[in-house]
Amino acid sequence: MAILIINDQEIELEDGAKIVDAIEEAGVPIGCSNGVCGTCEIEVVEGMDNFSGLNDEEKDLGMEGAKRLGCQCTISGGTVKITY
Ligand code: FES
Repeated sequence: MAILIINDQEIELEDGAKIVDAIEEAGVPIGCSNGVCGTCEIEVVEGMDNFSGLNDEEKDLGMEGAKRLGCQCTISGGTVKITY
């Protein structure tokens, strides 16, 4: 079981789950869901190691450091804290 914390709201997810549906419910604007539009940009506050690695779509849109595309991230387990 993994925990995603978004603006202090805790959401339980299966290990290995995509986070896109959970963050959309929490209010992150989701556009294409395919790593193209960039509207789903989030910032990882804690636990980046529990997210999947940066993929080509994220690199193409200039994600670096704590910035990620929420539609492209999966959570492997543990806890990740994000904001948007
Ligand atoms: S929703 Fe378009 S890049 Fe994530």
